[in-house]
Amino acid sequence: MSDTNDIPGGKDVLVEFDDGIAWVYLNRPDKRNAMSVELAREMNAVFDALEIDDRAKVIVLSGKGEAFSAGMDLQGFFRATDKVTDVARHRAYRETRAWQWRTLIHYAKPTIAMVNGWCFGGAFTPLICCDLAITDKDATFGLSEINWGIIPGGVVSKAITTLMGDREAMYYVMTGEKFDGTRAKELGLVNEAVPADKLRERTRELAMVLRDKNPTVLRQARMAVKWAREMDWEMASEYLQAKVDQTTFVDPEKGREQGLKQFLDEKTFKPGHGHYERREVEQS
Ligand code: COA
Repeated sequence: MSDTNDIPGGKDVLVEFDDGIAWVYLNRPDKRNAMSVELAREMNAVFDALEIDDRAKVIVLSGKGEAFSAGMDLQGFFRATDKVTDVARHRAYRETRAWQWRTLIHYAKPTIAMVNGWCFGGAFTPLICCDLAITDKDATFGLSEINWGIIPGGVVSKAITTLMGDREAMYYVMTGEKFDGTRAKELGLVNEAVPADKLRERTRELAMVLRDKNPTVLRQARMAVKWAREMDWEMASEYLQAKVDQTTFVDPEKGREQGLKQFLDEKTFKPGHGHYERREVEQS
């Protein structure tokens, strides 16, 4: 619960609250939102704060200016970490890893990446680790690393194979060829590719749909998909059965009970025609 009007971030990361949505922007537009060590530190603090802030029911991650992000900062990450002690380097990598994938994968609230403009290299990691993604159809994506002597590191080469087929991942890693938002949709990197002038409106619309779901069940459903796909069928079946029971146990809205009651007893709701009425329930 937040009882403060404080807004986290403010330098390399900007946060705007809007009716349950927290719009989180990488904010280094003059550097095309290249991701430095300082940005990682600020982003970690922002995600930490938003997770327990009631103003943020859904997070949208995007970039200010012309880019989602031009990837890792060649100065403020690569050069900067070349020059420091091994421990300082280790910390910089750990702090970067934290927000770019570890936090996003486990995040308590739903996340949408809104890709505007350039999206290169390291930017693929947070893009992929958001739950959903919408792009400007004319945005430019690229695994540009091969063109200047490095490989897609961080965890990019792993992340892309969770969404792209092997042939396609290999093709873009090996050629460094750029592609647009429409192609990103074909590749499965994003849910939708829309015209630039519809990007914010469509993202907001989707965020509102997520905002109005039962948040506990939505969280459990997101985690179930993420972890079940790592398991074989037997394990997944056992895990999901347990997850279903856990969801019922932890859901303060008692959504399952409400759904059954409204469908079977009250006959006020049919899942195929909409959502059950979310109600306050007495806690026993
Ligand atoms: N790291 C550090 N600085 C970067 C950067 C990056 N990844 N990407 C852009 N910048 C900086 C530029 O150096 C320039 O800084 P300056 O104004 O101080 O000279 C500023 O951002 C604007 O970039 P510029 O190249 O002039 O903009 P552009 O619109 O012509 O081109 C890109 C945009 C994204 C195509 C181009 O900047 C680029 O290729 N960036 C590198 C992309 C990349 O390979 N990322 C993978 C890293 S893992």
